[in-house]
Amino acid sequence: MTTRRLPSEFTPNEITALLEEKHRAGETILDLTETNPTKAGLGGAGPAELQALADPRGSVYEPCPKGAPVAREAVAKFYEERARGAGAPKTRGVPRIASDDLVLVASTSEAYAHLLRLLCEPGQEILVPRPSYPLFEPLAALEGVRVEHYRLAYHDRWQLDLDSLEGALSKCTRAVVLVQPNNPTGSCFSAEETEEVVALCVNRGIAIISDEVFGDFPWPPSTSLLPTMLGERRALTFVLGGLSKLCGMPQMKVAWIAVSGPERAKQEALSGLEWIADLFLSVSTPVQVALPALLQSRHRFQAAVRGRLETNLSRLHALGNGNHGFRVLRGEGGWSAVLETPPVAGDLALEALRKHNVLVHPGHFYDMAQDDSVVVSLLPEPGIFEKGVACLTRLT
Ligand SMILES: Cc1ncc(COP(=O)(O)O)c(C=O)c1O
Repeated sequence: MTTRRLPSEFTPNEITALLEEKHRAGETILDLTETNPTKAGLGGAGPAELQALADPRGSVYEPCPKGAPVAREAVAKFYEERARGAGAPKTRGVPRIASDDLVLVASTSEAYAHLLRLLCEPGQEILVPRPSYPLFEPLAALEGVRVEHYRLAYHDRWQLDLDSLEGALSKCTRAVVLVQPNNPTGSCFSAEETEEVVALCVNRGIAIISDEVFGDFPWPPSTSLLPTMLGERRALTFVLGGLSKLCGMPQMKVAWIAVSGPERAKQEALSGLEWIADLFLSVSTPVQVALPALLQSRHRFQAAVRGRLETNLSRLHALGNGNHGFRVLRGEGGWSAVLETPPVAGDLALEALRKHNVLVHPGHFYDMAQDDSVVVSLLPEPGIFEKGVACLTRLT
């Protein structure tokens, strides 16, 4: 009865099945994969944000497919403030956007779905980085779009494998996805790598989708803003951001697409996105009215996350500097880190859960080429993180 765009089976993988078993048995898990800020003692909404959600303007329905002007202006102001803030001179591109060039959506995942509908005929392709976040395939499959990969290769830092990008391009390629900082590698492209991608896209009329949801989280001690494609004019460019990461409020369901590029292509894309968004009107009015206040709360949240990143990264580096055979791969920002692991009997992630109730993600969840890697979130409470990491050393 259902389509082939859905998975052929819904059986949980070995780790999820074991985790469920342990939960049923009432066992306590040291979860080093927690990236939900509202569960990690970070983020969430305080009294000011909750009060903003009760604004009486939220009781009136005046649908505005791209998002209410008050909400889009708040997002444009956020980018303006960020451009003027600490670290701004190191930002690449023109980090400003007009509110008319923004489209609000309920989540970045919805932004991807809208962009696939906007750009791709069924059977056409997008290119996504490998390793990266595992949601691209199912999102694309649901829209009847194919996913091809370009490689990020680790040589003291994650680098763009340009040959693999060129090799993956075809007549059917409609967009290249950049994730900066990438999840889970924490890596960004150098200015040269970005130029190479832009040149390829301009020459072939391919759009760029730049997922910058973790763009406000450079790894301490750096405070520099991370690279952004905001305002890129040479290629049709869509920059994605949202409250889920920026303010630690995934429950609010607000994200956005910032559109730039050659004027005609930009206007055509904006009209198309407005039409698509009009079919769903998925962002609630109260949250749009509250958006200026919600965005203000980012300062408090980001300061808290920065403290967390500092503590947990230094714990991880202590592990990497010890004699246990672990190595922390270099990254620049975001909420996750990749840990190269020493050889152990069996799968380290499975063994960690089985023997010590420590949950980490195996690298293959993110299409990591190396078998010997795990991914950890940098958000867990330091006490949990410390204990979990200590358990990992007992596996070697
Ligand atoms: C790189 C990246 N993009 C997008 C998302 C989804 O964010 P949202 O909650 O806005 O859908 C995630 C979620 O972890 C992510 O890692």
